[in-house]
Amino acid sequence: MTNAPILLVGCGNMGKAMLAGWTFALQSLSREIHVVDRHLKENHQNIKCYVSVDDLPEDLIPEIVVLAVKPQGIDAVIPSLEKYKDACFLSIIAGKKLSYYAAHLGRECAVVRSMPNTPAAVGKSITTAVKNENVSDDQKALVDDLLCAIGKVCWINDDAEDMMDALSAVSGSAVAYYFFMLQAMTEIGVEIGLPEDVSKLLAEETFVGSAALLNASGKSPQELREAVTSKKGVTLAALEVLMKDSGGLKELLKEAVHAATKRSKELS
Ligand SMILES: NC(=O)c1ccc[n+]([C@@H]2O[C@H](COP(=O)([O-])OP(=O)(O)OC[C@H]3O[C@@H](n4cnc5c(N)ncnc54)[C@H](OP(=O)(O)O)[C@@H]3O)[C@@H](O)[C@H]2O)c1
Repeated sequence: MTNAPILLVGCGNMGKAMLAGWTFALQSLSREIHVVDRHLKENHQNIKCYVSVDDLPEDLIPEIVVLAVKPQGIDAVIPSLEKYKDACFLSIIAGKKLSYYAAHLGRECAVVRSMPNTPAAVGKSITTAVKNENVSDDQKALVDDLLCAIGKVCWINDDAEDMMDALSAVSGSAVAYYFFMLQAMTEIGVEIGLPEDVSKLLAEETFVGSAALLNASGKSPQELREAVTSKKGVTLAALEVLMKDSGGLKELLKEAVHAATKRSKELS
């Protein structure tokens, strides 16, 4: 990596998660990160904050511009970013296609469209990324370094951008599905008579432990599920409900993932 600055535009839930990951991973480097966000005012070491793009230093030449505003907010800010069109743009904005950036920043502009998730804050994002034909090998390597600093990266073929909506529905958004399931498990535990603190502890530690086991064991989710399911046992009684062909959890998840994919397409 060089030490040219990074510009991050929008630093809410996801921008903060990425910034935390970068600060953690890049702390030994002297690369400056310039952050534009209405709600951030305090500078920290190499992080310089501005409330508006108009406040950025005149002589700023970022090597990479990370776009992390809401899809509804990008139209307002993109005209003021045209002056950075020699940089490589890295968008994490759901739904916005590579063609959107070509239309606003010029056909020559290098753009990577990506979809991280909030575990980025602890270096555990899984990020999918697709680039346009203007991204050089060096720029791709730099983006890859930044995305690897917040977790794992899965590059998809340049001609497979259409997959991004479905990928967002099973990674970017899916963090919320798992947390909702955890919340529901805690509430159900209380409904069947557990003290709330006990229910919360059991639900959360089972979730964290299951993820750690999956990570460490090298076994598939199916193998790990079967290892806790004995014939005529307690777990099987629950799984027979969850795994019903009609009205089971898979059917419900499928409906949710389709709804998220459709919404991602609408945002483009
Ligand atoms: N959240 C996730 O888990 C997740 C995962 C993957 C991808 N994404 C994508 O990440 C993007 C950001 O999502 P988010 O949840 O982080 O949104 P967010 O919390 O609303 O963060 C965006 C931030 O940018 C600020 N902002 C917007 N326009 C600005 C401008 N012109 N000047 C200064 N500040 C500005 C917003 O301020 P105001 O609130 O005042 O507008 C807000 O603080 C979205 O496009 C989303 O699709 C999110």
